[in-house]
Amino acid sequence: MIADKPLKLMIPGPVEVEEDVLAVMANPVMPHYGVAWTKLFNETIELLKSVFNTEGDVFLMVGSGTAGIDACIGSSVRRGEKILVGVNGYFGDRLAIIAEGYGLQVVRLEREWGTPIPAATVKQALHEHPDAKAVAMVHLETSTAIVNPIEVIGPLVKEAGALFIIDSVSSLGGIPLKVDAWGIDLCASATQKCLGAPPGLTPVSVSSTAWEAILANDTPHGWYLDLKVWRQYAIDWADWEPYPTTTATSNVLTLRASLKRLLEEGLEVRLNRYRDLALQLRQGLREIGMPPYTPDEDLVPVLTPVCAPEGVPAGEVVEYMEQVQRIKIAPGLGEALQDKIFRIGHMSPAVTSEDIEDVLRALASFTPSWRD
Ligand SMILES: Cc1ncc(COP(=O)(O)O)c(C=O)c1O
Repeated sequence: MIADKPLKLMIPGPVEVEEDVLAVMANPVMPHYGVAWTKLFNETIELLKSVFNTEGDVFLMVGSGTAGIDACIGSSVRRGEKILVGVNGYFGDRLAIIAEGYGLQVVRLEREWGTPIPAATVKQALHEHPDAKAVAMVHLETSTAIVNPIEVIGPLVKEAGALFIIDSVSSLGGIPLKVDAWGIDLCASATQKCLGAPPGLTPVSVSSTAWEAILANDTPHGWYLDLKVWRQYAIDWADWEPYPTTTATSNVLTLRASLKRLLEEGLEVRLNRYRDLALQLRQGLREIGMPPYTPDEDLVPVLTPVCAPEGVPAGEVVEYMEQVQRIKIAPGLGEALQDKIFRIGHMSPAVTSEDIEDVLRALASFTPSWRD
């Protein structure tokens, strides 16, 4: 056992933060208002717009990704209105639960976990439910490492005149995502995954079409997570404190540093780097007899689901990696997969080819009798 060795995070968030980015957290805390501060905050918003690929509005709320998703759904769809929700994993199910929580009429577009939701399914559902006000989907379904084809679905949703709401918690900054070009009206992410920053903030993008729905939503839905409130403060307090409550200033500055790094490296270069690492991992996994759970055609550059060895519950491998190797990987999520697969997250800009080799070496040394 090497229990005093620091634990290396290879989970799908939170991720290891690059050292010089993390160092920003240790600077003296800044006030959350004032001209100088607001300039730094607004720069961060502009950087986020580049990563979202949007010219729409972007907000940065204090909260985890779920808070952002909650805000998108609750602000834009009125109680009693219909929403179609793609459910092919744990987080798709969560979207449906959030929508139910707002009293929306939820139509679940169910698909077997581990398979993407086909555009044809959404097209058919929109045809059957012409009164649907919105379609909500997860981009990268982290529970099964599946990417839903939202770039094809977006135009279908637009054609039907519905809002397109996307959970990009584990995709923004890690796989291609073009908010404006793909017709996404509301998109919520989180800082602790592919954006390479600590947990605590949720960036949200809002299109002009979404604003029409949000401003017309007169059903009660709280205050903090109402995007209408955030818009008002961004306008009224633009140069001083463009949000309704105290923001997490140290987190914002750290995010700003990580976004600068991302854009300096170049989005495309970063995404290709992740892809190469994923291929290296997949090749190595096959060589050690723990093949990837999904085929290479469905490769996700930032997350790899892996089949546990025959007869061994996946949790045993996860525990071995943490206890003995001090590498934290993630179990499968959901009843169907939790014993069969484990997941390796490589969604941090800090991950290198050597890290992938270390994980492979550590996995290769697993034996079912490691506790003996
Ligand atoms: C796709 C997806 N959606 C939502 C969430 C929830 O995000 P948070 O824990 O930041 O609220 C996660 C977290 O892993 C996720 O992967």
